[in-house]
Amino acid sequence: MIGAATGQRIGITGLGTNVPAKVMTNDEMAAFVDTSDEWIQERTGIKERRIATQEEALSDIALPAVREALAEAGADVSEIDLLICATVTPDMMFPTSSALMADALGAPQAAAYDLLAGCTGFMYAVVQAYGMLASGLSRKALVVGGDVLSSILDWDDRSTLVLFGDGAGAVVMEPVDHGGFLGFELGADGGGGEHLQLPGSGSRRFEHPEQMLKMNGREVYKFATRVLVSSAEAVLAECGRTIDEVDVYVPHQANKRIIDHAVGKLGVPRERTVVNVDRFGNTSSGSIPLALADARADGRLHDGALVLMTGMGAGLTWGSALLEWTGTPS
Ligand code: ACO
Repeated sequence: MIGAATGQRIGITGLGTNVPAKVMTNDEMAAFVDTSDEWIQERTGIKERRIATQEEALSDIALPAVREALAEAGADVSEIDLLICATVTPDMMFPTSSALMADALGAPQAAAYDLLAGCTGFMYAVVQAYGMLASGLSRKALVVGGDVLSSILDWDDRSTLVLFGDGAGAVVMEPVDHGGFLGFELGADGGGGEHLQLPGSGSRRFEHPEQMLKMNGREVYKFATRVLVSSAEAVLAECGRTIDEVDVYVPHQANKRIIDHAVGKLGVPRERTVVNVDRFGNTSSGSIPLALADARADGRLHDGALVLMTGMGAGLTWGSALLEWTGTPS
């Protein structure tokens, strides 16, 4: 799916993030599996990640992010009529984390549902919220992206354990009078789905339903390096913009080598690229909002900044969005 945004401008007016307090370094990971700080940093760029405690579920981690986003947007929870939570690690399959969060916030008027699109979940959820806002069906939406991947990792598998971390982010989306989303591109290739899966997590019966993440790292690497570039180029072309115009490039934070490859192919100056995989690892649906928050913290998300976001992940899925940052409403 690809398209340029037309009609009513829809933007992001509030952004919030939250990560578990517990930091786990590469050296600490080496207590569980045969690995080293040197190997992890060289192959992935990751130095540490956040890990939830046994008591922390997704909604516990995401709610502070939601409250921060609402405060920045100056929005009262009674105005929220849509809450989409992108995740592959909800508190449980049902009730959904989005419904639980709407209840905790006191937003019974909001439509609330979880969305499953792997690490691309946040991008998919943003596009859905855009569609509902642009059509006038929704007036103010909350999009949450977050995961507690530590809960589905095989803590004996060094090839996946070291890559991931826990975290969440949230944005408020609503009509704006300037800037906003310019276009989107989303895609999926279930044919490659077997390369990143959670066997036993649904109705398909498996002989050994361990419910732990399984990944073919080399195949995912090839896929990720390809779509990070092709999806970004597609959305730019659709919107009639060029990479030179992009002020802030926010790629999914899976692996520093994958990001470096995309930066080289796209020709984005490094100083315009947001990288925080060193501090958080791959937080799946939390990755892009956490990276946006870093760009905001260092002053790059100024009013009018052209922001390019691209995610990719299980499905296999990918998605990009181009937007002009609107700034916080005064
Ligand atoms: N520590 C030490 N050695 C390790 C580790 C580890 N944590 N993990 C694997 N190795 C070993 C392997 O066993 C292998 O050993 P061998 O040569 O004796 O067989 C050796 O290191 C090389 O393994 P490779 O898989 O070839 O290593 P590679 O350079 O491909 O890096 C990696 C592996 C980092 C997983 C890479 O393939 C990758 O980044 N893939 C993409 C993964 C990804 O980003 N997934 C998520 C994206 S989608 C989403 O976000 C859900």
